[in-house]
Amino acid sequence: MLYRFCAAFFSPFNSGYFIFICTMEDVFLQTDLKRINKDLWDLLNKAVGSFRAPFHQAFIATINGILPEVRTVVLRRVLTEEKQLFFHTDIRSPKVAQIREQPEISCLFYDLELRIQLRCYGLSSVHQQDSLAEWGWEHSRLSSRLCYTNQEPPGSIVEKPELIDLNRKQVSDDELENARQHFSVICFRVYRMDWLYLHHTGHRRAEFDYRSNHFRWKQV
Ligand SMILES: Cc1cc2nc3c(=O)[nH]c(=O)nc-3n(C[C@H](O)[C@H](O)[C@H](O)COP(=O)(O)O)c2cc1C
Repeated sequence: MLYRFCAAFFSPFNSGYFIFICTMEDVFLQTDLKRINKDLWDLLNKAVGSFRAPFHQAFIATINGILPEVRTVVLRRVLTEEKQLFFHTDIRSPKVAQIREQPEISCLFYDLELRIQLRCYGLSSVHQQDSLAEWGWEHSRLSSRLCYTNQEPPGSIVEKPELIDLNRKQVSDDELENARQHFSVICFRVYRMDWLYLHHTGHRRAEFDYRSNHFRWKQV
């Protein structure tokens, strides 16, 4: 896939440009952790706009009472400098209450093709009807907005499954306004990321600590 290749353009010595093409695999085989960190965040950034990208889906883990609970969410936005990842959810969903109770969560990404696992640890917050939620809503498609039109909260019992409308396309302004009230954004500020790269020449693992800006190699 094209996005899995990067090209470096070097300045001319005296006869034109030299174009060097390397694969993402080559990038992650280097030992420069700053560069690897940058490329990992580039991958996350690119995954926002590509539903086929493996990092488009994240698995976020919260604490439900004393039990861990994990679920898939879509990666909606990335702020690289701030080390923030954003997800959308229904404000009434159980994960919101869990995050409010215990904002320290973890989030996992896995790229099957590159064989890269990212484990992110950080602090999360839930945003409803503020500028972050506004931004998320404005950048959402109608099909995504429809998910928030349900009158009943996520997880509530459905007595008549035959009434579930799978082909709903028309929605009134009132319903959309109602949906907007249910819409929320989870902001996850990553303070540590654990990178694992499985490779036939030897697996690699490193930890990126964004609080201390300390990056170090770890035993697999
Ligand atoms: C591919 C995929 C993408 C999903 N994306 C989201 C999402 O972006 N936001 C969300 O709240 N739930 C999403 N879900 C549903 C959640 O995994 C989960 O079932 C639901 O949010 C209820 O979670 P909770 O009971 O832990 O709050 C997705 C599920 C799948 C399979």
